[in-house]
Amino acid sequence: MISRETIEEVKNRVDIIDVISDFVTLKKSGQNYKALSPFANEKTPSFFVVPSKGIFKDFSSGKGGDSFTFVMEHEKLSYVEAIRYLAKKYGVEIKEDRLTDEGIAEQSEREGLYILMNFAKEYYKNILTTHEEGKGIGLSYFRERGFTDRIIEKFELGFALEGWENFSKEAIAKGYNQQLLEKTGLVVKKEDTDGPARTYDRFRGRVIFPVHNISGKIIAFGARMLGKDKNQPKYINSPETDIYHKSDVLYGLFQAKNSIRQQDVCYLVEGYTDVISLHQSDVENVVSSSGTALTENQIKLIHRFTENVTVLFDGDSAGIKAALRGIDMILKGGLNVRVVLFPDGEDPDSYSRKVGTTAFQKFLKEHSQDFVSFKTNLFAAEAAGDPIRKAESIKEVVTSISLIPDPVKRSVYIQETSNQLKISESVLLSELNKILIGDRRKNEKEKIRESDEAVVEEVVQPIAPSTQNMVHYQEKETIRLLLNYADQKLEDQRLADFLLQELEDVEFTNEVLKEIYETFKEGAQSGKLIDNDYFLRTGSEPIKRMVTELITARYATSNHWSDKFQIFFPKEQDVLNNMALSNVLRLKFRVVQKMMDDNLGMVKVAEQKSDWEELDRVLETQAGLKRAESELANLLGIVVAK
Ligand code: CTP
Ligand code: MN
Repeated sequence: MISRETIEEVKNRVDIIDVISDFVTLKKSGQNYKALSPFANEKTPSFFVVPSKGIFKDFSSGKGGDSFTFVMEHEKLSYVEAIRYLAKKYGVEIKEDRLTDEGIAEQSEREGLYILMNFAKEYYKNILTTHEEGKGIGLSYFRERGFTDRIIEKFELGFALEGWENFSKEAIAKGYNQQLLEKTGLVVKKEDTDGPARTYDRFRGRVIFPVHNISGKIIAFGARMLGKDKNQPKYINSPETDIYHKSDVLYGLFQAKNSIRQQDVCYLVEGYTDVISLHQSDVENVVSSSGTALTENQIKLIHRFTENVTVLFDGDSAGIKAALRGIDMILKGGLNVRVVLFPDGEDPDSYSRKVGTTAFQKFLKEHSQDFVSFKTNLFAAEAAGDPIRKAESIKEVVTSISLIPDPVKRSVYIQETSNQLKISESVLLSELNKILIGDRRKNEKEKIRESDEAVVEEVVQPIAPSTQNMVHYQEKETIRLLLNYADQKLEDQRLADFLLQELEDVEFTNEVLKEIYETFKEGAQSGKLIDNDYFLRTGSEPIKRMVTELITARYATSNHWSDKFQIFFPKEQDVLNNMALSNVLRLKFRVVQKMMDDNLGMVKVAEQKSDWEELDRVLETQAGLKRAESELANLLGIVVAK
């Protein structure tokens, strides 16, 4: 039992910001802090910390409480374990009232696994630095690779002796039971068909890389062989256990997290030795997915600390393939991604040792490219002079862009691609739309298949091929209504008056339409009657052409249908009320979208000039326009493409 005083002491010392910051990157927001929920998968932050009250609240999962609750929830600890954790963090000496057997027995099974893994780590470490074989073989291997003592200590590297039972014997002697040894995967049980089951150490005659979880506990080991024995796997890794789920773990994150937060970028490499070599070059914001393809959960893990990932990969074709897969996963997770490719035959490990710290850091800076350049460069060589290949490479890039969840980011990348590939934005946008709409259909089909229910038909509002075109279309529609129905009574006013009043703040972009519109406006102000005839008599050639086009009844066909098939369409006049209203909304909607496009251009300029004040202003504008857009979309009952 931990004494009351100890608990009080810990309570007095804890600082909730400090506690939570070990796991989550908090951003200041007024008096409080916010972050992406560590408990739920989300793209916008709903996790809040109120330092003045010492509490947190997570609106996604509903969890909330004080520092103790947080540590319990996040690390899956009991209350007592949470106190121990925080006491250790704040250097509070734990005074126990009495040590009971039941206290020890109560320790959860998970805790047992952690304790044994920690024992194993200490054991392997010890052998590396004190045992003759460890020093002679293991330590000299690390030395050969250029690992310093400081780095060996930082990653708690170790060595497993040759022989079947060295570790097991030691662990059993220290009181750990056989069952636990098997549960951690440190010991393997072999069921022979004849004779009794045999057990032996999993790791033998190899150097040991402990895998830490985010709070620094050992959850697994990777063990590399020393020679070049072709009959053995290069690495033997811990199996999945109650405390180790490979796909949820990033090697090096524990050692990297502070640096990732400070640098606001996370380097992603392929393996254990790449992570360690980067630390040797004083690059500490680096993690590895340890030989498996990057998973969604691993990306979420990174997202807790930064939004930016830079993928470092070998220049060989396997490396490039892995990089491409990784890029798409990262984009899908809503993070920004850049790529550094190493010269053929080099990986981050070999290259950093070859050129040294300063040159290596410089290389990272100078050779990091955004994924658009990376992909276009990759396909450029093949595509040169081959139009089919070129079309494929465009599709490649646009497919990646289509994975980005944020439409604003998507359009920035479309602009970027347009600049780099010298292809018009509208071509890229229509390619993007094809993919987005295709995906959407596929999703809907899957949904139907899954639920066996009809999905409510939603109007897909694809990103307009060009918002300018859509504005033009709606402007034309406004003028058409004016030309044909200016005098028609809506509920209590003339259609012309209604439209002119509602569109007071809208500036027409097309010159011809603008002139017609202005003429209507002036007419209304001076009491002059404006109708089709007026324009046909007095207008310029382009005006006459436009007016003629617009007064030629589009709905004439409906008569034909009603005569022939007895199908009656509502006459346009009858639904004028609705049409006028939705026309106004649609025009405003399109105008807002066009303004967003234009404003995005300004965002880019501000970024290029590093004009942060301006950037702040235009981003604010963008957010405001986005709000207006979704309000209008709601009114129109349509769904804006997300
Ligand atoms: N890996 C593995 N099992 C293997 C080979 C590789 O688990 N048989 C994983 C390890 O996590 C390794 C990563 O894949 O770190 C990358 O593989 P590789 O580049 O071959 O290993 P490195 O760790 O870079 O080792 P080294 O530089 O010593 O060859
Ligand atoms: Mn390597």
